[in-house]
Amino acid sequence: MATISGGQEWLKKAPLTLLFCADLHRSEKFLTVTDPKVYQNKELFTVAVVDAALATQKAFIAVQTLGLDGVIIGGVRNEMDQLADLFHLPERVMPLFVLCLGYPAEQLPVKPCLPQSFVVGTNTYPDLTKTITKK
Ligand SMILES: Cc1cc2nc3c(=O)[nH]c(=O)nc-3n(C[C@H](O)[C@H](O)[C@H](O)COP(=O)(O)O)c2cc1C
Repeated sequence: MATISGGQEWLKKAPLTLLFCADLHRSEKFLTVTDPKVYQNKELFTVAVVDAALATQKAFIAVQTLGLDGVIIGGVRNEMDQLADLFHLPERVMPLFVLCLGYPAEQLPVKPCLPQSFVVGTNTYPDLTKTITKK
């Protein structure tokens, strides 16, 4: 996986890595569908990708409560077919992210974020022309 993602260190060093996939294989296998084109459906694809992203974030939050920390790696999608072969994934299973986990060696400070006025809009899109003042 490290090679596929361009040699990313996290994938070489993390003691535990979890691969999250969008899975349309299961529904194809177990559901009877009347529309044969349903698997070309953008909505179904979007739901599968969002499900995988939510599962990744949920797992991340869960392990953080246990004192672990990690990094999400999307770079494994550089070679999606190779990755699918590596894990013997069936058709319609798309490997999307790897969550690299371990116990942090040090506690890092919280990184600066964009101010709330820049990312949150009330009843409308936020006004991005507002200046960001440094604290
Ligand atoms: C979907 C997704 C894919 C990512 N892919 C990579 C990646 O391939 N390589 C990488 O170094 N960071 C990647 N990141 C960023 C890291 O997971 C992490 O968010 C970033 O290092 C900042 O983490 P921090 O704000 O918790 O310090 C990705 C983040 C997301 C949400």
